[in-house]
Amino acid sequence: MMVLSSTARAQARALEARSAGAAIGLVPTMGALHEGHLSLVRAARRDTQFVVVSLFVNPTQFGPGEDLDRYPHDLEQDRRKLEAEGVDLLYAPPVEEVYPSGYQTYVELEELGRRLDGASRPGHFRGVATVVAKLFNIVQPHRAYFGQKDAAQVAVIRRLVTDLNFPVEIVVCPIVREADGVAMSSRNAYLSADQRRAATVLYRSLEATRSRYSSGERSGPALVEVLRQSLASEPLARIDYCAVVTPDTLLPLTMIRSRALVAVAAWFGQTRLIDNTLLGD
Ligand code: PAF
Repeated sequence: MMVLSSTARAQARALEARSAGAAIGLVPTMGALHEGHLSLVRAARRDTQFVVVSLFVNPTQFGPGEDLDRYPHDLEQDRRKLEAEGVDLLYAPPVEEVYPSGYQTYVELEELGRRLDGASRPGHFRGVATVVAKLFNIVQPHRAYFGQKDAAQVAVIRRLVTDLNFPVEIVVCPIVREADGVAMSSRNAYLSADQRRAATVLYRSLEATRSRYSSGERSGPALVEVLRQSLASEPLARIDYCAVVTPDTLLPLTMIRSRALVAVAAWFGQTRLIDNTLLGD
């Protein structure tokens, strides 16, 4: 596995592989890799001949007072994991390489970027869309892999690809969960033992909502109420949002007629976790 911090060299290497006829797969990450990330890498390894993983803790997607400074990182451990998965290129640039002095171009999704996590974290999706657009231009992948856990991010990236005509296929991989149902997340590392136990309420609430849907409930507000009440049963959880929305627009659904995204965000102490499930077909 080649490890490059230089954008010019990473771009040249990916373009060289593309010219040689390889399908390029990109897995964008912020490091602190867990099985969720590795499932994306494995999907890319299965589908494409040249797998690029980017590892960059993107400062522009963190708001003031968020966890940018304490975001977990261990480049050497991540490097070993990716090497073992047969990744071809690890692109791990420093901040100045991505946002050099004088940088001033950003990508903003006017409405979608302000829904769900975009409402709770103003500017977050502007940072995500900007860095993902840059990664697409640098690596020029045929396919890019994202996790369903970040469902709002998936909607934003699909819209970005459509709106800016990126010739990239977006592949979304299922949420990977711990044995007790907690979705894998780099931020789980912040939780105390009590908070980690409490975090199981997220999956339980989603399952309670799914079960009510399976019994025939189709009203969005009624399902949101099931979700909210189930979450409220855990004293260590402070709800950020509970939502039943259309998966691509992230707009609230009054009645579920086809697919619905049930999404939740909650604080456990200083740590904000998200989770979701898809209903319907
Ligand atoms: O999902 C993430 O880890 C980040 O938002 C991404 C897509 C790597 C952009 O920084």
